[in-house]
Formats: sequence, structure tokens, C-alpha cells
Amino acid sequence: MFRLAAQGEGVLAGLMFDPVEKLKEFVRHQSVSTDPAFADGMVGAKDFVSELLESIDFNVEVVKTDLYPVILATRGEDPSWPHVIIYGHYDVQPADPLDLWESPAFEPEIRDGRIYGRGTADNKGPLMTHIAAVGHLLEKEPDLPLRITFMLEGEEEMGSPSFPKFLAEYKERLSEADLVFLSDTGIPSEDQVVITCGLRGLVLCEVHVTGSKSDLHSGLHGGVLRNPIQALTELCASLHKPNSWVDIPGFYDDVLDVEQWEKDELKKLGGDTESYREFLGIQKFHTAEGFDPFEAIRFMPTLDFNGIGGGYQGAGAKTVIPSKAMVKISCRLVANQDPDKIRQQLYQTIRDRMPDDVTFEIIDDHSGVPYVVVPPDRTNTPVDQSPVLADAFRALDVAVADVFGKPPLYLREGGSVPIIADIKKVLGLESVMLGLFLPEDNLHAPNESFKLSVMERGMKVGEQVLRQLANRS
Ligand code: BES
Ligand code: MN
Repeated sequence: MFRLAAQGEGVLAGLMFDPVEKLKEFVRHQSVSTDPAFADGMVGAKDFVSELLESIDFNVEVVKTDLYPVILATRGEDPSWPHVIIYGHYDVQPADPLDLWESPAFEPEIRDGRIYGRGTADNKGPLMTHIAAVGHLLEKEPDLPLRITFMLEGEEEMGSPSFPKFLAEYKERLSEADLVFLSDTGIPSEDQVVITCGLRGLVLCEVHVTGSKSDLHSGLHGGVLRNPIQALTELCASLHKPNSWVDIPGFYDDVLDVEQWEKDELKKLGGDTESYREFLGIQKFHTAEGFDPFEAIRFMPTLDFNGIGGGYQGAGAKTVIPSKAMVKISCRLVANQDPDKIRQQLYQTIRDRMPDDVTFEIIDDHSGVPYVVVPPDRTNTPVDQSPVLADAFRALDVAVADVFGKPPLYLREGGSVPIIADIKKVLGLESVMLGLFLPEDNLHAPNESFKLSVMERGMKVGEQVLRQLANRS
């Protein structure tokens, strides 16, 4: 069902490839950006996509950065044609813990209509969907009056450290485009596609606390000093109120009210909280008071502890007062919150509340600005919205309804793709985000997978949208 290879038709006959086979090849390259041990996999994945894009007649440039290169691949010369940038990332999260995978993370396997492997959903499968859509479309319509630029990075999973500099350097060329099109967000089910209208921002840091100059016997010295684990956990405990709101002065100051159309759209999702609770495997929800779980994910900022450590972690007991403790903290931000300001408020709160009998250090990690885009014909659509962008949304609406049998919903996403806000800031371009991965795809977790029927339908949608945009010219 899925062999799309050309069978002797058209000018570009023979150019097209089997997207599933190509996705398998892509996944075999172990492109974990956060771990330098996977540098070979990064090169392999970069070369693989570059060659694939060359094979469908794109002009491919590999742009060096301080770390992993950006791939820029273009077709269509005529400056009067509409110009779409397709964004994707060729890096993936680490595959650990490896022993929880049913088939090895980097040896893709197809089971029950899904392809399993690290990066199949985030983001190699969705990216392959777009490449295959473009390849298939151009095979049929080699003279399509549309400029397409693939802009693919290898640092998304580490916060895209090189990307802002790349954008600044290529600003003149890239800002000529009309919009960015991508699939790096989710859908609740295959029956209900979502066009993502918002991404949360991020603030990440670590806090390291030191008490005594070395570990101490808790019998010899216990009862005379503050344990750094206690200092740190009390500090952590102070960062939420019992009603689950974050307890940092000023944290919610810039959070905007949500438009009624967005609330209505979310109601149409008709999410069932009980099945969501079961899906998570939790006893009950602990949602910011005043918001149901589905609202909280999309409309509310958070503060989370991602890891905590200190003291003895080995087998058996050890009567020790540790010298050090540490925690990793992340905040998800919503539209209009400024990561720099939130970082300041968080750090000030830590400084104010940490007891003065321990020393501590706060270590910065990266930030991401939240993003919202308003589709056409809404109460808050910008009056000066680009007509090409508006048409892209309309084309997507029609294509999703045609291919998936139901029109999409327009919802914000809880996750973050921080460069989308950078693209807006530097290039002035908005992003049209077609959600493609499912809740059961296990992003960032063992047994990540991508559903092949979604891939196939996503390709049809991509093709239809691009053809429609080309018809504007
Ligand atoms: N594709 C995800 C973003 C995402 C996740 C969107 C879940 C929708 C639902 C992206 O690759 C990602 O994982 N982003 C990271 C942030 C990044 C800076 C490490 C995230 O959201 O944690
Ligand atoms: Mn991703």
C-alpha cells in the first residue's frame, strides 16, 4: 500500500522513493545531539537527509555552525512564486533506558502498522512525511510554481544553541519566504487532527546546594547542622501552593486571558478526563485550581522538578549527612511570558528563600520564548495578516478534512519548539504547524513509534497544501 515509487510515469520517473524504507534508514543513524558520543550518527543523519533531498532535485547547502550543521535545501527560482520554508530536526533524544525497548532503539521495526525506533515520531517520521509529500508532488508536477526551502537543524533536542546565529546570518534570504510549514507537534487521535496554534516557552536551570565541606557521619555530627537535602527540598516545596499554582512572586503577571474561540475549540476536543487519567496511570489530577487538565496543558505555565539528587543512592543504609544536593528545574511558559523575566523571578525567589546556613549556586540552562499564531477569520486575527499565510491555513483546513474525514481543531500545544518564536522574531515569519504524532507514540521515552497510516495521510495533506499554495501564483 505504501510503495510510492514512480512506475515509469512523468518526467521525474524513478526519482521517488519508498518513504517507509527511507525512514528506516534515517532512524538507523543514531543522531543524539545531546551526547557527544553520537557525533558519527549526527554526521550520518545529516548526510542521509542531504542526499535524499538531492535525489529529489533540491539544491542542498550544508551550513556549518559552532556545533551541528543546518541543512538548507531549495527548489524553485522565480522570486514571484510563493515561498514555503519547511522546518524539521534530524536530531533525536537519547534512547535510554535501553533495556525497556522491545526492539532496539536504532534498529527500526514495523509492528502493527507502526514503525518503532528512537526519533520515528520526533521528528524523523513527520519530517520524512514532508519530504515524501514534496517528492511525490514534484514528481507529478515538476514545474510547480512554488519555492520550497527545507531548513533542517540538528540541535533541536538540546535547545538549538546555534540556530539564532544561523537565522541572523541567513536573515535576508530566508525572510523573503511567506511562511514556515512543519510537523513537530501532536494530535489527540488519528480521527482528530490538530493545527497547532501555540507552543509553550521554557526556562531551565539547576540548583546546587552545599552544606558541610565533606560528607559527615550522622551520629558524630547529626543534629548540629542543616542538611543540604533538607534545605533544597524545603526550597522546592515552597515553589508551589497547595492549589498547584506556582508560588513565585510575579510569575503569572504577564499571562493573558484566552480568547473565547480558543476555549470553544478546546471544548470541541471533548477530551475525556477519566481516560486521560488512566492513560497517565495516576491516582488523580493535581491541576492548577480553576483549570481542567486539558486547559492547564495549553493555557497555563508550570514549574517542574526534572531530577533531584544528593546523598547516598546505593544499596543498603548509610548513616551520612551529605555535603551536597542538587535539583533540575524547568518552567513551561505561555504566550506573552518573557523567559528572561521569569528566570529573574525564579532566581530571586530561590535567593530569598534559601536558608543562609548553606551555600548554593544556580546554573543557567537554555530558554525558549513561547509562541502563538492566530489563524484567519478569528476575533483576534491580526488585521495585517499575510494573505499567503491565511491561505495556507485555509488550504490545510480543507486538506485535513478531505484526507482525514474531519476538519482539524486549532489548539495550542503543551510542548515547546523554541526556534519557532525565534523565526518569528528574526525572520518575521509565522509557522503553520500540522500535528502528526499521537499520545501513544512515546516521544522521548522507550518504544517510540510513528503510525504509518498517519504518515500516509500526512503526505497527502502536505501535497494538497503545497499544490494549493502554488496555485496562488
Ligand atoms: N517535538 C517536540 C515538541 C513537542 C513535544 C511538541 C510534545 C508537542 C508535544 C520537540 O522536539 C521537543 O521535544 N522539544 C523539547 C524542548 C527542547 C528545547 C528540548 C520539549 O518540549 O521539551
Ligand atoms: Mn521534535
